[in-house]
Amino acid sequence: MYGNAYIDPNEKRQSVAEGEDPKKLEEFEARIDRGEKIEPDDWMPPEYRKQLTRMIEQHAHSEIIGSLPEGTWITRAPGFRRKLSIMAKVQDEIGHGQLLYAAAETLGKSREAMFNDLLSGKSKYSNVFNYPAETWADVTVIGFLIDAAAIINQITNSKGSYGPYCRALDRICFEEAFHLKQGHDAFVALAIGTSAQRTMLQEALNRWWQPIMHFFGPSDKQSVHSEKLMKWRVKLASNDDMRNQFLDTYVPKIWELGLTLPDPNLKKDEETGVWAYTEPDWDEFFRVIKGDGPCNAERLAVRRWAEEKGKWVREALFQPKDKYVMPLA
Ligand code: COA
Repeated sequence: MYGNAYIDPNEKRQSVAEGEDPKKLEEFEARIDRGEKIEPDDWMPPEYRKQLTRMIEQHAHSEIIGSLPEGTWITRAPGFRRKLSIMAKVQDEIGHGQLLYAAAETLGKSREAMFNDLLSGKSKYSNVFNYPAETWADVTVIGFLIDAAAIINQITNSKGSYGPYCRALDRICFEEAFHLKQGHDAFVALAIGTSAQRTMLQEALNRWWQPIMHFFGPSDKQSVHSEKLMKWRVKLASNDDMRNQFLDTYVPKIWELGLTLPDPNLKKDEETGVWAYTEPDWDEFFRVIKGDGPCNAERLAVRRWAEEKGKWVREALFQPKDKYVMPLA
């Protein structure tokens, strides 16, 4: 359904970086071309290790921070059924974070180092989780459209070249499919509800549209890592391609519910299948991912509080003489 990968097999490979063994690099790239998975103990270029660590770590942080806006709605969700489902979802997201931290650890960075980089503001996490969920409608927009966007990105990434990340994503996507169903159900309930509910939903949709457009990353012209990541089949679709897949699948679903989107230029070219849209404000995107969004300080403050309160548990679990064990992913 998703992830129309496009990679030109004849494209020239990245030149050998300083200090890299050209023979090993050639073998490594030949394995990737044959569709083999790279495993933690296999030889890999330092740049591949670095890029994957960055990407998986950011993804893990996004799962953990991403549970915060929805977590605050567990007690306020309308009715017992919605409370139960959002509680289960938040629990799943934390589990996804754990799976992804374990996958990133196989590349050599410890979980403690990743937590420290998150708490110090060094590591990034998804832009969308730096906005507030002001009403229940915001939670339904997150549950439907941000989960939909995440599934498009994650199904594509799950076909990639690094074994531990792909296996974690297979499981994550399976669970995300349930999240999408609960998000869609809650979204439709508001869309066909009272006029006050429809207004609340429309307002939330207007607030979230730009962060959702930002979610897939900067335009291909501005993306700095895509070329390298696509050559090594870590990424199998460009940011603009994933954004287009999202628009193609979900804009019609929004319009058919009689809702509108705050972009007068949104239109599909039926011949090419490419959607036209107004470029979102990329200055805002870069400000938000660098720490200056509406909720960045609040999100990190909650994580620092959790880290501090959980210290005694970690101390009880990790005795000084214990050796660090590389997880099996
Ligand atoms: N939120 C926060 N930062 C983002 C972002 C987003 N939605 N999209 C891109 N960025 C950051 C990148 O991390 C990079 O920053 P860095 O160089 O400081 O690390 C910068 O913007 C330039 O982007 P680009 O060169 O396009 O990065 P990329 O090739 O890694 O592509 C993703 C960005 C998000 C598509 C890619 O990293 C990815 O698929 N990540 C894994 C999945 C994930 O994290 N999903 C979100 C959580 S559900």
